[in-house]
Amino acid sequence: QTIYRKDYTPPSYLVETVELGFDLDPARTIVANRITLRHNPEAAQDHRDIVLHGEDIELVALRLNGTELNPGQYIVGTSTLTIKKAPLNVVLEIETTCAPEQNTTLSGLYVSNNSFYTQCEAEGFRRITYFPDRPDVMAKFTVMLRADKQKYPVLLSNGNLVEEGDLDNGRHYAKWEDPFKKPSYLFALVAARLVCQEETFRLADGRNALLQVWVEEGNLDKTDYAMQSLKNSIRWDEERWGLELDLDRFMIVAVGDFNMGAMENKGLNIFNTKFVLANPATATDVDFAGIEAVVGHEYFHNWTGNRVTCRDWFQLSLKEGLTVFRDQEFSADMIGTDSGRAVTRIDQVRTLRQAQFPEDAGPMAHPVRPDSFVEINNFYTVTVYEKGAEVVRMYQTLLGRDAFRKGMDLYFERHDGQAVTCDDFRAAMASAAGRDLAQFERWYSQAGTPIVTASGTYDEEAQRYTLTLAQRCPPTPGQAEKLPFHIPVAVGLLDAKGRDLALNGEGDTTVVLELTEAEQTFTFDAIAELPVPSLLRDFSAPVVLEYPYTDEELLHLFRHDSDPVNRWEAGQRLAMARLLRLTAAVQNGEKLELDYTFIAAQRALLVDETLEAAFREQALILPSESLIADQMEAVDPQAIHTARRFMRETIAKVLRNELQNAVAANATPGPYSPDAVSAGKRGLKNLALSYLLAAPDDFTLDLATRQVAEATNMTDRAAALVALIHSGADVEAQLQSFYDEFKGEALVVDKWFAMQASAPTTDVARIRELMTHPAFTLKTPNRARSLIFNFTNANPSQFHAPDGSGYEFWAEHVIKLDALNPQVAARLARSMDRWRRYLPDLQPHMRRALETVAAAPKLSNDVMEVISKALAN
Ligand code: ARG
Ligand code: ZN
Repeated sequence: QTIYRKDYTPPSYLVETVELGFDLDPARTIVANRITLRHNPEAAQDHRDIVLHGEDIELVALRLNGTELNPGQYIVGTSTLTIKKAPLNVVLEIETTCAPEQNTTLSGLYVSNNSFYTQCEAEGFRRITYFPDRPDVMAKFTVMLRADKQKYPVLLSNGNLVEEGDLDNGRHYAKWEDPFKKPSYLFALVAARLVCQEETFRLADGRNALLQVWVEEGNLDKTDYAMQSLKNSIRWDEERWGLELDLDRFMIVAVGDFNMGAMENKGLNIFNTKFVLANPATATDVDFAGIEAVVGHEYFHNWTGNRVTCRDWFQLSLKEGLTVFRDQEFSADMIGTDSGRAVTRIDQVRTLRQAQFPEDAGPMAHPVRPDSFVEINNFYTVTVYEKGAEVVRMYQTLLGRDAFRKGMDLYFERHDGQAVTCDDFRAAMASAAGRDLAQFERWYSQAGTPIVTASGTYDEEAQRYTLTLAQRCPPTPGQAEKLPFHIPVAVGLLDAKGRDLALNGEGDTTVVLELTEAEQTFTFDAIAELPVPSLLRDFSAPVVLEYPYTDEELLHLFRHDSDPVNRWEAGQRLAMARLLRLTAAVQNGEKLELDYTFIAAQRALLVDETLEAAFREQALILPSESLIADQMEAVDPQAIHTARRFMRETIAKVLRNELQNAVAANATPGPYSPDAVSAGKRGLKNLALSYLLAAPDDFTLDLATRQVAEATNMTDRAAALVALIHSGADVEAQLQSFYDEFKGEALVVDKWFAMQASAPTTDVARIRELMTHPAFTLKTPNRARSLIFNFTNANPSQFHAPDGSGYEFWAEHVIKLDALNPQVAARLARSMDRWRRYLPDLQPHMRRALETVAAAPKLSNDVMEVISKALAN
């Protein structure tokens, strides 16, 4: 049941062409599939078995080269159909049926709000028809769709529309042809009642492309930003990478029931509505930024993923890590300023620490290129995506931007139209840059977060600063020992005035050191005074950096570092040390105290008008409860919560005036704009507001109440309401009127559930009550996530209730969800990953909940894999 990377063998047959005919019916859809296959010259000559995948489909008829096959002439297994001893050239005609309306897994062909959609990555195509459903089988697709014209007026598939017309019985048809060879996971169809915003867009080479954003009627007032983001993406890919749109038509379709964010099907991207629909009244700044990033991400896949795809699913990061890196760069370039770019980088670092480092340190730890899996859908992870993006970024850091671009060009030159591996990407980078990147491979094969320890000495006599860097990496399941990584460590040195020192003859103030051994020493000459080192600038590698900083040194960096990421980082270190001390004090029943030095530093930053609001916001956000938890031997969620609350309350009391000023000074009058400067102001203003409500009084409560009532955009409105909920104020009436106003907007209703689920004032009993609300359903992933995931993942003090009631709730819903949608259930299952790190009093409750799930009948592979790894490691 476990699949290993080392077992890869090339397919015995390749598919040349695929012709698919769909007679769409929610209860019983008929799929006629005609494929031409030929024996793969790279497979053993005597390997003549054709292996087709198929799941949850009914075989009606099977013909080989025109002759009907009898059941004795093929073997149907649980998820394969095998034809033994086939000829070299084969035409297969396969007729199957499926029941889209019964398909609650949202993988394959399914129905959402009375329309048809598909999701084929990773292995969903086999739920539509029998096919060699593996990414190294690439074929040309022609698709004929037939459906009721009234119910499904819009019929879409990949590529170009070549024919459409009416049929008998009120049905109609559309025929689509994709000119590019593609693996089956990139197939898509949509048959729906939809409308679109469209535009003709001029490409760099002068061709015109038709761009469309398809949504349900009533949502056309929320498509502008997605369309604008698509146009920006196309332009940016041309300008930064010389990559052009290769189709005459590019479509985005939004669907309300979707397992993930979006999917890069060739020419027909299908999106979770969350990453398409936005207007100022319904979407927040964070939503707008998410749309830009995901529209870009899926568009960029057209080259990194579709034109060059993965040989097998172990190589997933080849396309995902690279495409995340590309979307990160896109978002940063769209802001344009250095400080804006730094804020996006800080966000990336936060995501890594918040989600990826814990994954690397838990039972599901896996390398960027995993060696094995039970269920591939469990490996669409922050490690494959976000750490994978860091790995790509490190090439750029090590080779420089120009050589990296040459490496990208060479990658496309060598592999356009192919299904390749992470090694092929690395080889292209190595050739283009003329560098040996053999050791760099370990970033793909070794799991775990490396720890880099730094120490420095200054020799005044010699005017020399010596920096020693050492690396180690903790063991992970299946990998006890690790070899040294090739780590780029960007370094600067600050003088006593906070200025950057020149580090070499060229006058560089940041240099990238290459740490390749367990321990290495680097020297800097002509250093006139004892410096403060600024290490791992711009977060140059996904590692934990340890250096015995004193408070004075951190305060110096927090005030002066020219590298904004490290400036922020110094603040986080100062805050973390205090949060850990406060947590210990709570546990020991000691008096809680926060030093004035720290608050003064926060104050100085808050009022520094020379800094962008967005940066000040980042610098003032305290490390989250889960980040604090990661620093503790035995995690005590209640003590952490109390400590962090105390710290916020204390800051609020001492900086009350400054915070009030920040609220007033960062108003954004006039029409809403999602641009980074305006969003940054709203972010700082609303952070200040939430601080003020950490120590609420009549004035601040009134301030927030008015903002909820008077705000003209969702960002301000939701932020004020959230701050009020967290303050413990009575918000019953406000929640009710918010719901009444937005009950027709599914994405806003999701917010309504989410803001309650993640509030520390909401206990498990209240969550259960919210689940009986008429708007709640487990079947729509967005809704399930909004309430359940926000409780288990974003409300630690309630989820970890000492009586274990949160864990019982979790087990119950993993099991319930698994019966409907294993992919979503397996995500929820991950909430218990780190159970062995909690207080001894909590662990038995957690173990019992895990065992309850493990013992449930008919568990999916998805959930089983997660739970058994949690119990084993
Ligand atoms: N390739 C998609 C993206 O990152 C994600 C699709 C994942 N789907 C899944 N069922 N695992 O853009
Ligand atoms: Zn992707």
